[in-house]
Amino acid sequence: MKNTLVTESEIEKQKSIMRHIRDTARDSALRLAYVDTYGCQQNESDSEKLRGMLREMGYEITPDEFAAEIVVINTCAIRENAENRVLGNIGALVHTKKAKPSQIIVMCGCLAGVPETVAKIRESYAHVSLTFPPNALWRFPELLYAVMLRRALDEGRDPAICRAAAEMPVGPRRMFVDDDRAAIAEGLPTHRDMQVRAWLPVMYGCDNFCSYCIVPYVRGRERSREREDILEEARGLVAAGYKDITLLGQNVNSYGAGGSDNFPSLLRAITAIEGEFLIRFMTSHPKDASAELFEAMAQSGRAARHIHLPFQSGSDRILALMNRGYTQSEYLEKVAAARKLMPDISLTSDVIIGFPGETDDDYEQTLRLIEAARFDSLFIFIYSKRPGTPAAKLEDNLPKEVKAARFERLNNLQNSISVEKHSRFIGKTVRVLVDGQTNEGSYTLKSRTNGGRLVHLTGGPELIGRFVDAGITHCNSWSLFGEP
Ligand code: 5AD
Ligand code: SF4
Repeated sequence: MKNTLVTESEIEKQKSIMRHIRDTARDSALRLAYVDTYGCQQNESDSEKLRGMLREMGYEITPDEFAAEIVVINTCAIRENAENRVLGNIGALVHTKKAKPSQIIVMCGCLAGVPETVAKIRESYAHVSLTFPPNALWRFPELLYAVMLRRALDEGRDPAICRAAAEMPVGPRRMFVDDDRAAIAEGLPTHRDMQVRAWLPVMYGCDNFCSYCIVPYVRGRERSREREDILEEARGLVAAGYKDITLLGQNVNSYGAGGSDNFPSLLRAITAIEGEFLIRFMTSHPKDASAELFEAMAQSGRAARHIHLPFQSGSDRILALMNRGYTQSEYLEKVAAARKLMPDISLTSDVIIGFPGETDDDYEQTLRLIEAARFDSLFIFIYSKRPGTPAAKLEDNLPKEVKAARFERLNNLQNSISVEKHSRFIGKTVRVLVDGQTNEGSYTLKSRTNGGRLVHLTGGPELIGRFVDAGITHCNSWSLFGEP
């Protein structure tokens, strides 16, 4: 593995800056920070690190952006509508900044790695003081501190923050960090949001370069954490009572690629930890969904019977244009191989409709794949042109109405499959892990089956964090309803 690990002294420097920020403001009022997250689980996990670092700096996390001294928006770049939503919300922060002029507004995450978007922020969003891309996350303390120091000096304050500064340069008034050093940082604090389920990143970045996807450009090259670091974290999570741990990576099954380790072997090592818990992972690319992977899953009772295996299109022609590296029949062979070993495996997927030049026939092939694979659930996306990707050069000429009609038909097909699959559970008893409370009428708890299916449950909060057997009473296309 050609991994660049951030050196211990660099991590130590970040830690000393965090301590410095905390200590120099000890006597001031309660300090609050707000972190908002868009996008995928990797971003959720990154936000847990941001919160961990902010707490280390002496901030409490608040859900109220008006009350916060520091507002961090962790953004997603995957589709244009996600981008527009984020930019709209960042624009609206002029009001929080106006109400609290001392507020520092930070934008990070994938959009902060898109040069066109950063240029927009620089020109039209003067209330944003700092942007940095995902690979610079570990430098958050240092970057924030540079902004704080500049602010303190500009305002003629000589606060404690300026004294005994940790040999830090003062930043410019606004900082737009462009850091493409794809490294791995260990040892920074994490503040986990959930008590039962936990994210555990095992690899970062993506080398697949699917032609529509912006991720390889914003998250950089694939690199994997050392197995021992992952195992130590996993043991800690199990000891702390986490019961459902999701191993994360944009391309999780290529863990260890180019080195001596691999994902099935990592999975065996993690599921060998003593305790009552389940391990999931996401996201899988069909090219890495190997027989060895399915065997490792099938052989461990602690590996959840679930795989999220995006297929993106059923048309071999479109799959080639997408640079996916498999055909419809190869994909279906993988599904068959998984089901042969684990007949009860839950299979979920992603599909993109309206890729440039998608014909009626291409679309029919996608419907055919869905009918053959019979997914437990499916996330349907309308193609969105992303700057800098190879597909952005193809003409995106399908009329909106055609895309909408294709979406609708596919959605109906999948809903009928989901309902049929769900209705098979009615009257049965399934083991679920209760992970929190909800507001579904008398169903006040939410839980997940081993396959990851959502089950709304009746019962009291004392069940949270426990595996229970639930009798399933009814369902809809998204979830089951049951009683313990
Ligand atoms: N347009 C539409 N959907 C996309 N996805 C990734 N890039 C794009 C894009 N440019 C979808 C894929 C991926 C999921 C996370 O988002 O289906 O699996
Ligand atoms: Fe969005 Fe992809 Fe970034 Fe996740 S990795 S936040 S899905 S662009």
